[in-house]
Amino acid sequence: MRKVYVAGNWKMNLIDEIQPLKEFSKDIKNDIEVIVFPPFTHLQKYGEILKGSKVKVGAQNVFYEEKGAYTGEISYRFLQEFGCEYVILGHSERRNIFRESDELVSLKIKKILSSSIKPILCVGEREEERSLNKQKFVVENQLKISLGGIENNFKNIIIAYEPVWAIGTGKNASPYDAQEMHSFIREQLSSLFGKKISYDISILYGGSVNEENVKDLFREDDVDGVLVGGASLKCDKFIKIVEIVDKSLI
Ligand code: 13P
Repeated sequence: MRKVYVAGNWKMNLIDEIQPLKEFSKDIKNDIEVIVFPPFTHLQKYGEILKGSKVKVGAQNVFYEEKGAYTGEISYRFLQEFGCEYVILGHSERRNIFRESDELVSLKIKKILSSSIKPILCVGEREEERSLNKQKFVVENQLKISLGGIENNFKNIIIAYEPVWAIGTGKNASPYDAQEMHSFIREQLSSLFGKKISYDISILYGGSVNEENVKDLFREDDVDGVLVGGASLKCDKFIKIVEIVDKSLI
């Protein structure tokens, strides 16, 4: 049984309140992993507030070395100190604004897999690539380069399909398109790691997820959860999304 995730990527934002989510999490009926990803500077604060609750804290990025002369970077060892169990890697904003390559993402993933932290690898095509029907080619390359050469701890890998054109645009992928890509991603995982492992890896969808579209997206066979941006910044909206996913599992 694949694990189900509802994750909130706050990006470079803070939220007004988290207590209602902490309270609500006591009522979650199913085995859902709820994670919030605050900026680095607030990991400690939210780690402490959420300690002992069902809501986990994760980081939005990490570097691949443990320490040294890497100005501005953060090591996984620091993340562990704050109780981080997850880290987002290769988000399209990191790729596009900060020029992160698949090769860099690969180094980060390998390092993280040697720790207890689980990486959420983001992949996804740009609008012009989809309009040229190249989305599978793009995602296949991202997966092959980022995940090539990994030899163990496969079970800790989580994938998030986040089409760039759907991020922050209010234009989510249709459930059909999401399922088509998720099942393609699973095929790629199968050729990299074998069928059994590919079946166990959770694949999340991200890109304009909200309380209105989450039910239909999550209904798809290969959509194992969601990575939410904008709608995770309002605690009540995020709770609603968690609630809908929870109810869908009953
Ligand atoms: P939005 O939900 O705001 O489209 O952002 C998605 C995202 O980038 C999550 O990582």
